[in-house]
Amino acid sequence: MSIEIPDGLTDLLKGYTIEVLRVRPPDLVEFAVQYFTRLQETRANNLISPTTPNRVEQKGVNFTTTETTECSEEEDEEEEEDDDFPEDITFRPPPTSKCNRRVSVCAEAYNPDDDEDDDSEPRVVHPKSDGQRCRLQEACRDILLFKTLEQEQFSEVLDAMFEVLVKPQEHIIDQGDDGDNFYVIERGVYDIVVQKDGVSRCVGKYDNKGSFGELALMYNTPRAATIIASQEGALWALDRATFHRLIVRNNAKKRKMYETFIESVPLLKALELSERMKIVDVLGIKSFKDGELIIKQGDMADCFYIVESGQVKILIKSKTKTNQRENKEVEVARCSRGQYFGELALVTNKPRAASVYAVGETKCLVIDVQAFERLLGSCKEIMKRNIASYEEQLVALFGSSVDLRN
Ligand code: CMP
Ligand code: CMP
Repeated sequence: MSIEIPDGLTDLLKGYTIEVLRVRPPDLVEFAVQYFTRLQETRANNLISPTTPNRVEQKGVNFTTTETTECSEEEDEEEEEDDDFPEDITFRPPPTSKCNRRVSVCAEAYNPDDDEDDDSEPRVVHPKSDGQRCRLQEACRDILLFKTLEQEQFSEVLDAMFEVLVKPQEHIIDQGDDGDNFYVIERGVYDIVVQKDGVSRCVGKYDNKGSFGELALMYNTPRAATIIASQEGALWALDRATFHRLIVRNNAKKRKMYETFIESVPLLKALELSERMKIVDVLGIKSFKDGELIIKQGDMADCFYIVESGQVKILIKSKTKTNQRENKEVEVARCSRGQYFGELALVTNKPRAASVYAVGETKCLVIDVQAFERLLGSCKEIMKRNIASYEEQLVALFGSSVDLRN
């Protein structure tokens, strides 16, 4: 016996289920009454426009179905013809698709005070399977821009993100385009290509972790680089409006919190105020417990640290075999508020030269390697000068001469 499932039933129940999982109401029946009443009112008022597809709007909450990345005409036609949803649930083309991207370029400077009306923006939710959510959480675990968000804001970001699968040689971002999404890498390798004076140069790459695409959204500028997938990969995208509402707003708070501190950091004294604020915009905050390992000698490097509070100790394992206790870690230095560490591997392009541990509860500002290259280039000379003093320290400790640069 076959049972025919009425058109739209599955999606109707899916919408209700998602809202239950999001709100977690104590009384499911009571909540169902409210939910379906609201849906009926919305239909009666004919609030949902057939031109805003793929979106269910209820009390300022948007539910959007999961995405695909292809931009074929066939799919566009399919979406238009799809009548599986009830009439008050309509479809929107996937925002990831390049053919739906914004094309105009607006270059006005960012002013957080202009963000007053962001609260009226509806919340975007892209439903995800448990597996997708797990993968998304893992990919976002170390994203610096998310590190300073409140838990509630972070959940909103996760809700709003959607999966984008990419093919080898696909351009995720083209320099000069208007910014549509911010991307977090789940997997894949991505080249960063910057064109200057008519010459394109690969300035770096993302290797299976990290994020990109924040600059155009933060500063309303055209895309500053082209990002090309060098192999198949998977990304999580966050739309421009949600990025603005949550991340850019949070940055305004971050600027207020860190402006004074960042001005007191000796290394950054030579930078212009606007350059220092750009550092604040992209930095993350990480807290460490007493004794926690922050950097492991020999690891590959992907970020740079400034101590905000507490202290760190720097230990080196000798390579020389002098006695039974060979390779024992020896403390070479300590850094406290305003001092930096973790620059050496970024400057020399070598593995970490020492291990770094927290002494007591410690908080550090963290800047990723791409932002380090982009924003701290002019401070590199100061950092390079320090390498000589590291080498002297090591000679004093281990006797033999040490070359940290080559
Ligand atoms: P956005 O300008 O929005 O789009 C391109 C992205 O490339 C940019 O944001 C940064 O996230 C990233 N990127 C990484 N390295 C660089 C670089 N050296 N210059 C510009 N953008 C870079
Ligand atoms: P990096 O090699 O990236 O990671 C370990 C960090 O320890 C290193 O950068 C320096 O910032 C810091 N450090 C402090 N003193 C020394 C030293 N004598 N030799 C090497 N690294 C040191």
